[in-house]
Amino acid sequence: TSPFAPRHLLSIADLTPAEFATLVRNAASHKRAIKSGAIPQSLIGALSGKTVAMMFNKRSTRTRVSTEAATVQMGGHPMFLGKEDIQLGVNESLYDTSVVISSMVSCIVARVSKHSDVADLAKHSTVPVINALCDSFHPLQIIADFVTIYESFTPKAHSLSSLGLEGLKIAWIGDANNVLFDLAIGATKMGVDMHVATPKGYEIPADMVDLIQRSGEGVASAGKLFQTNVPEEAVKDADILVTDTWVSMGQEEESKKRMKAFEGFQITADLAKRGGAKEHWKFMHCLPRHPEEVSDEVFYSPRSLVFPEAENRLWAAISALEGFVVNKGKIVEKTQQ
Ligand code: CP
Ligand code: NVA
Repeated sequence: TSPFAPRHLLSIADLTPAEFATLVRNAASHKRAIKSGAIPQSLIGALSGKTVAMMFNKRSTRTRVSTEAATVQMGGHPMFLGKEDIQLGVNESLYDTSVVISSMVSCIVARVSKHSDVADLAKHSTVPVINALCDSFHPLQIIADFVTIYESFTPKAHSLSSLGLEGLKIAWIGDANNVLFDLAIGATKMGVDMHVATPKGYEIPADMVDLIQRSGEGVASAGKLFQTNVPEEAVKDADILVTDTWVSMGQEEESKKRMKAFEGFQITADLAKRGGAKEHWKFMHCLPRHPEEVSDEVFYSPRSLVFPEAENRLWAAISALEGFVVNKGKIVEKTQQ
C-alpha cells in the first residue's frame, strides 16, 4: 500500500479500543449537542463539496437513511447506487468499479455479501471505504449499539481506551451472524462479556472465535466469550439480551430449515426469568425484526432499547464519517460540546 492509502472501516476489529471508544463517545457527544440545538462547529460544512457513494447490493432502511442523513447534516452529497443502478460485480469487476468510483467521490459506503468483496473494494479504492454490512461484519451498527449501551447503563470512571462498561454481560440468543461477530469484537475490546446461545450446528465458526479472542490482546480487562446451545445458560446474570433475525439476507433458501433449528430460541420475558437475567435487563436488536426471534411483549416493552438503538445509527454514521472522511482515519476525541 502507498503511504497515501486511505484508512478503511471494514470491522470493529480495525479499531484499537481507544479508537472504538472515541467513535462511540463522539457519536454520543454530537447527539447531545445537535439535539440541544448546538451543531458542533467542526461538523458544519465538514463534507461540503464532497460526495459519499453508497453502493448497496442488498436492501436497507437504517443504514441507508442514517448514512444519507449524516452526509447531509455535514454538508455533503450522498449518492445512492443500488444494485440495479450500477455494475457492481455483475457486468464489471470490483477492481474496475472501485478505481472508477473512488476517482470521483470522497468516500464509499458499501453493502455487499462476501467480506472479500468489500475488502477488495477497499484494497483498490483511493478513498475510505466504510462497510455498511457484509456477511461477516457490521461496524456502523456496533458503534450505534455501544452508544446505546453507554447511554443506558451508568459508565464507571474510565480512561480514553474504555467506555467504563467493564463487567457488563450481554447474552446473544439466536444466530451466529455478521452483527454478532462485530458486537463480540467490540464487547471484547470494551471489557464486556458475551454469552452466546445458538442451536447446535449454528455456532460461531472457529476462525471468527479466534478473531474475537484476539481482539482482547493488550486489553487490561478484555471481555470474555462463552458459547452454549442452551438459551437459559447464556441468559444467566445478563444485563442485556440481544438477538437478530434467524434468516439473514442471502439465506432465504434456508428459511424453513432455520425456523425449525431455532425453535426454543425466541427471546421472551419467560426465558429471561427462567434463565435468571439481572433484574434490570434490557433488550436490543439491530432491526429489521421478525416476531419469531423475540416476542412482542419484550420487543415493545420498556426494557426494549430498539428504537433509541436505531436512532443511534444516525449519530454513529456522523461519528464514522467524521473520523474516516473528515479526519482521514485519525480518530480523535471531541471535547464535550
Ligand atoms: N440494522 C440495519 O443495518 O438495518 P438496515 O438493513 O435496514 O440498514
Ligand atoms: N443479520 C442481518 C442484519 C441486517 C441488518 C442480515 O445480514 O441480513
